[in-house]
Amino acid sequence: MKRIGMLTSGGDCQALNAAMRGVAKTLFNAKEDVEIYGFQDGYQGLIYGRFRLLNYADFTGILTKGGTFLGSSRTPFKTIRLPGEDGMDKVAAMKQTYYKLQLDCLVILGGNGTHKTANLLRTEGLNVITLPKTIDNDLWGTDMTFGFQSAVNVATDAIDCIHTTAASHGRIFIVEVMGHKVGWLTLNAGIAGGADIILIPEIPYDIGKIAKKIKARHDGGSRFTILAVAEGAISKEDAALSKKDYKKKIANRKHPSVSYEIAGELQKRCGLDVRVTVPGHTQRGGSPCPYDRVFASRLGSEAGDLVLKGEYGFMVGYKDREIVRVPLEDVAGKLKAVDPKSSVIKEAKLLGISFGD
Ligand code: F6P
Repeated sequence: MKRIGMLTSGGDCQALNAAMRGVAKTLFNAKEDVEIYGFQDGYQGLIYGRFRLLNYADFTGILTKGGTFLGSSRTPFKTIRLPGEDGMDKVAAMKQTYYKLQLDCLVILGGNGTHKTANLLRTEGLNVITLPKTIDNDLWGTDMTFGFQSAVNVATDAIDCIHTTAASHGRIFIVEVMGHKVGWLTLNAGIAGGADIILIPEIPYDIGKIAKKIKARHDGGSRFTILAVAEGAISKEDAALSKKDYKKKIANRKHPSVSYEIAGELQKRCGLDVRVTVPGHTQRGGSPCPYDRVFASRLGSEAGDLVLKGEYGFMVGYKDREIVRVPLEDVAGKLKAVDPKSSVIKEAKLLGISFGD
């Protein structure tokens, strides 16, 4: 008999359900008896003992459904060791739930913060297997995370829609793309959507150069310009600030986000109409794309296989087109960012895309 606990933590994304289904199908198809306990709203369920025993029916009909049927929440790692508002010792409470249910293992689906806590639980003696989810694709140790390709589709659709209206009105359009501190989503959606300018956190921009590029396009007869701007995009001046000063600047920002700041500057410098579109959380919503359904199912079934073999302490990741296992201690706390020197940046530049650098 194997008894496992499952939870989804952090911001949701497409294909969480597909991944859990992959784990469950693999376990239910095995010879061994299995009990799967689902924890509600991520680590909160583990801390406060909110769970239920799941059965086969819980995992049917969910392959194509976005979101997570277990619910999710953010439980910041930086405060995990601090008592909660109710005085709760969160780490002790999670261990208590684990031992009370006599679990053999926890299967945890999450992104960066989630992996830090998962690794902490491992060091506390719990058996843990994780799966890499996030639209940001910023988890170290895996070439890709599930949710990412679906989000690229949504963000690309947004840029496609903007293209037609931008062409009609001869305007500058900024589409602000999610991705937290990295530019994977913006880079991919930007190239796929034919953006003229792509701004990502890894390549700080010079507003003067962006204005120059727009002027050159318009002088050359182009009626419109599309910018794909990462929510974490940063100017060269801001990148030169200390972390503390930059945080202070952001806190006092007049604009809701960097895109509006850029829009204001471009309006002044280019004298053209500028509009900002923010697809926001739509990028995390809706059905997983076929790629993510296959990918998450594969990752899930490998995680199920690890459970059956009793091999714990790994994230199931993807490297060089193969599903691999990566030690959790190698993953936790590391970010995978776009390398400004990578070939994809070079190729995008050869296509005429400006990164504002
Ligand atoms: O990590 C996924 C993500 O969607 C980021 O791209 C974004 O910065 C963040 O979550 C938004 O978080 P929240 O849903 O808590 O507003």
